[in-house]
Amino acid sequence: MARGKLIVIEGIDGSGKSTQAKILFDELLRKGHNNVMLTAEPTNNGIGAIIRNDLKATGGNLDPRTMQLVFTADRSQHVLQIIEPRLANGSTVICDRYYYSTAAYAYAFGLNMEEFLHVNEVLFPKPSVVLIFDLPAEVAAGRIEVRNKKPERFENTELQKRVREGYMKLARLPRPQRGAVRVIDATASADEVHSRVMEEVSRHIS
Ligand code: TYD
Repeated sequence: MARGKLIVIEGIDGSGKSTQAKILFDELLRKGHNNVMLTAEPTNNGIGAIIRNDLKATGGNLDPRTMQLVFTADRSQHVLQIIEPRLANGSTVICDRYYYSTAAYAYAFGLNMEEFLHVNEVLFPKPSVVLIFDLPAEVAAGRIEVRNKKPERFENTELQKRVREGYMKLARLPRPQRGAVRVIDATASADEVHSRVMEEVSRHIS
């Protein structure tokens, strides 16, 4: 059986990626792609719970490097238990955040982005395509405010500006063996963003 494709959606908090990942998933099902799954990082499993607790803690308890290593450990389980078996089974896997998040947030915290990327690229399957939702951090912050929930530890505009910068650096890295990376203007309407997503995804799944 042909190996499935891994489609990754990335972007700063409030970029709309989770909403669009769900719309993409529904659309693929509607078009008759039955072998498709939607998943997300951080997970809701044991290691994901450590992360979620820390994100809620005021100021947080874990230092940035430890935190990104915990995200990477969470990914390790996610890949073993969910992503890899599904890819092996020929499934299209849509993942809301993956290791580009680790690299972009590492960059935002002043860590070595390429080292975190490298470790993850060595350990985990490479995506067929990474869609980076791009928009100014202030616009994203406005959207989060509308959602009206208490902001988490990473949801501050100064940090999110640096995360965005990290994503743009990732988009410009040399691509051999890295799979496609596409930047999508996330300030556009939900319909337009969805069309762009479909356009890119159609190149990778038949
Ligand atoms: P988020 O996508 O906001 O999860 P949810 O929508 O379920 O609350 O992820 C939580 C935060 O974790 C977000 O600010 C991004 C950050 N993050 C990292 O710093 N590194 C990573 O590797 C991942 C996957 C997420």
